[in-house]
Amino acid sequence: MKTTLLASAVALTLSTGAAAASDADLRELAKSAGLEAVPYGLQAVDDNPITREKIELGKMLFFDPRLSASGVISCNTCHNLGTGGDDNLPTSVGHGWQKGPRNSPTVLNAVFNKAQFWDGRAEDLKAQAKGPVQAGVEMANQPENVVITLKSLPEYVERFERAFPGEADAVTFDNMAKAIEAFEVTLVTPNAPFDQWLEGNDGALTETQKAGLAQFLEKGCPSCHTGVNVGGQDYFPFGLIKKPGADILPPNDKGRFQVTKTASDEYVFRAAPLRNIALTAPYFHSGQVWDLEQAVDVMGTAQLGAVLNAEETALIAEFLRTLTGEQPRVEYPVLPVETAETPKPEL
Ligand code: HEC
Ligand code: HEC
Repeated sequence: MKTTLLASAVALTLSTGAAAASDADLRELAKSAGLEAVPYGLQAVDDNPITREKIELGKMLFFDPRLSASGVISCNTCHNLGTGGDDNLPTSVGHGWQKGPRNSPTVLNAVFNKAQFWDGRAEDLKAQAKGPVQAGVEMANQPENVVITLKSLPEYVERFERAFPGEADAVTFDNMAKAIEAFEVTLVTPNAPFDQWLEGNDGALTETQKAGLAQFLEKGCPSCHTGVNVGGQDYFPFGLIKKPGADILPPNDKGRFQVTKTASDEYVFRAAPLRNIALTAPYFHSGQVWDLEQAVDVMGTAQLGAVLNAEETALIAEFLRTLTGEQPRVEYPVLPVETAETPKPEL
C-alpha cells in the first residue's frame, strides 16, 4: 500500500516539473521510503559494551587462521576486507577445499542487519561468529580446541583479560565471539555518494544516478530494500511473483523454512543489504549472477512482476553503484607466535 502511494508520488513528481524531479522532492521521497545514510560512530549492540581493547582483540581474531582446524582459514579468508568484505566466489570454499552451499555476504555494515545470515538464523554478530568456527565446511574447529589454542598464546590471554576485566576465566568461546562482534561494529562504510546526497549535497549524484534512484523508488524496490543498509531489515519470498530458475534459486535451499519450519517461510530470505553492492558480485544466496544489471533484472521479474527495460535496469544499477561508501582502513595485525602447547593444525 505504502509502496503504491510512493510509486504514484514519484510518478507524479517525475511527470510534473521540468525534466526531472527537484533534488528536494526526490530526497523527500527517498527518506519517506525509509532510506537512511550510514551513521558515523560506533553502533551500540546488546550485551556487549564496545571498548578499544575488545575491538583490537576482535581484529586479531578476525585475521587469525588458527581459529580454524587447518590453521589456514580465517574470517578474512571469506570476508576479505580488501575486497568488499566478501570472497567474490559463487559459494565459499572452506575446510579441505570444500564448497559451502551459499554465497558469502559482506561483513561490512552487517551490524545494521536485523539478523545475520541469508536466512537470519543468528540473532546478532556475536551469535553469528560462533557458527563459522565450528561449521564443517568452513573452519571445522571445536570450541574446546579454540580455547586451548587461545590459552596457549600468552598475548591472547593478556588481551582477553584486558578486554573482559574482572572475569575469572576471560578466555572463553563466548568472549571470542563478543570480541569479534566489537571489531565488526567498526566495519561500516559511511559517506557514500548517495549518503552525501541524502544529507543535502545535490552535486554528490549525477543526473543519471538521480534518475536511477527515481526508478528504484518508482518500481517499489524499497518496499523490501530499505533502512540504513538498503536491505537486511526483513524477510521476503525470493520469487514472490515468479520463481527464478533453479540455477539462481536452487530447490534444495528453502531459506528461512529451515529456521522456522513454517510452510509459508519456504524460499523466504532476508532482503539482501545493497550497500557496497558494486563490490560484492556474484549475487544472490546462490552466487550465480555476476552482473549487477542482470541481478536487477531478476529482481524485477521475480519480486515485482515487472519486466524492466534495458534503460530502467541500467539506471537502477547506476544508482546502486552510488551505495559504495568509504571502506574501513584496517592495519593488518601482528599475531602472537605459537608455543609448544598450541594444538597442531589438522589438514
Ligand atoms: C569458508 C568461508 C567462511 C568463513 C571462514 C567465514 N565465513 Fe562468514 N559467512 C560465510 C558464508 C557462506 C555466509 C552465509 C551463510 C548463510 O547465510 O547460511 C557467512 C555469513 C557471515 C555473516 C552474516 C552476514 C550477513 O549479512 O548476514 C557474518 C557477519 C560473518 N559471516 C562473519 C564471519 C566471521 C566473524 C567469521 C570468522 C569467525 C566468518 N564469518 C568466517 C562464509 C565464511
Ligand atoms: C518482495 C521483496 C523484494 C523486492 C520488491 C525487491 N527485492 Fe531485491 N532482494 C529481495 C530478497 C529476498 C533478496 C535476496 C535473494 C536471495 O536469497 O538471494 C534480494 C536480493 C537482491 C539483490 C542481490 C543482492 C546480493 O547481495 O546478492 C539485488 C541487487 C536486489 N535485490 C536489488 C533489487 C532491486 C533493484 C529491486 C527493485 C527493482 C528489488 N531488489 C526489489 C527482496 C526484494
